[in-house]
Amino acid sequence: MILVTGCAGFIGSNFVHTWLSNHDEPIVNLDKLTYAGNLANLASLADDKRHIFVQGDICDQKLVSELLSSYKPRAVLNFAAESHVDRSILGPGEFIQTNVIGTFNLLECVRAYWSTLPAEDSGEDVNQASFRFLHVSTDEVYGTLGPQDPPFAETNPYEPNSPYAASKASSDHLVRAWHHTYGLPVLTTNCSNNYGPYHFPEKLIPLVILNALNDKPLPIYGDGQQIRDWLFVQDHCRAIIRVLEAGRIGETYNIGGWNEMANIDVVKTICSHLDTLRPRTDGKKYAEQITYIKDRPGHDRRYAIDARKIESELGWKPQETFITGIKKTVEWYLDNPEWVEGVTSGEYRQWLGKQYG
Ligand code: NAD
Ligand code: DAU
Repeated sequence: MILVTGCAGFIGSNFVHTWLSNHDEPIVNLDKLTYAGNLANLASLADDKRHIFVQGDICDQKLVSELLSSYKPRAVLNFAAESHVDRSILGPGEFIQTNVIGTFNLLECVRAYWSTLPAEDSGEDVNQASFRFLHVSTDEVYGTLGPQDPPFAETNPYEPNSPYAASKASSDHLVRAWHHTYGLPVLTTNCSNNYGPYHFPEKLIPLVILNALNDKPLPIYGDGQQIRDWLFVQDHCRAIIRVLEAGRIGETYNIGGWNEMANIDVVKTICSHLDTLRPRTDGKKYAEQITYIKDRPGHDRRYAIDARKIESELGWKPQETFITGIKKTVEWYLDNPEWVEGVTSGEYRQWLGKQYG
């Protein structure tokens, strides 16, 4: 049994699907179901007894402790977070609450649980030596790169720039400290930008796909030359599983696909796939909807991941390139109109209103 948090969201739900396609070991999934948590992402698992869903908050000490003592997981994987940079700029409070306090609470509950386990293998399934706490984090903790800088290595200093990045950096530091001080067997992963199925359409790629199809502007912040290092979400999930299996305790692993692209090129690629797969009825090109707007405050210019550590130590490599992954992603949004309809109501519209007026 493993306990995962935040797995009704984008990456977490992909993780649950990836895990259950390759393992019989069950998953307990603790998720608060914020605006970003969506049980439709897990609908195909409704009758699968290996997936146990619990709605709740990682800040709830009583609930987390009860889940640990009743399910006795051999690992806890923390995906739960407030994840959107723009939201963190508009209102950082929830980011501190979930990302910092929530991680602190999880660590304390897990430490108490872990200290009750037998030290070594004593015939029990779970013991202190084999237990793992895996914390899912981001490359944004490293700050921003100049055009000539080498990609982020695990040894780069932390220089978070947005409230979101600062909250994730704080959580990484807590995880590190719980290992050094209490000996908790932790692993941390720092990944670059993900894309793929079940991505909530506040983030660039799904926002652009859906705005294009709805004849709306495709908003490009600033000059559109900011660079992100894109990774197909299932490659990220496979990397996390690999780190859980074989990562060295106390280590951090950067995860990325060596795939730097300027935002404007990402958007133009999406437009050209849509021109082929679902041409506009008026004969125009989707790229005509591109609209340059005011930049994000404190916008990081470039992220890029040096993934050599996870590649050489753990033998992980991405299976998708951006060319194959972005086509699959556009096709997924075209093939899943019901999912899209479900997430593009209520809360989503309010957000768009606040963000873009
Ligand atoms: P998401 O916003 O899509 O999902 C977050 C999930 O966490 C949601 O299901 C939400 O309901 C849940 N949640 C939020 N607060 C909670 C709380 N207090 N208790 C329990 N559940 C709570 O996020 P995502 O994009 O899937 O990101 C998952 C993790 O991966 C995050 O930790 C994020 O920082 C990290 N990450 C994301 C990316 C990316 O490109 N999306 C890249 C690197 C790392
Ligand atoms: O690098 C990893 C991070 O990637 C994760 O930790 C975050 O959880 C995840 O949200 C993502 O952060 P970004 O800020 O990079 O993602 P976002 O999709 O919001 O933006 C991607 C780029 O596109 C960024 O440079 C801002 C720009 N952008 C974004 C939106 C929503 C636009 O130009 N227009 C937009 O409308």
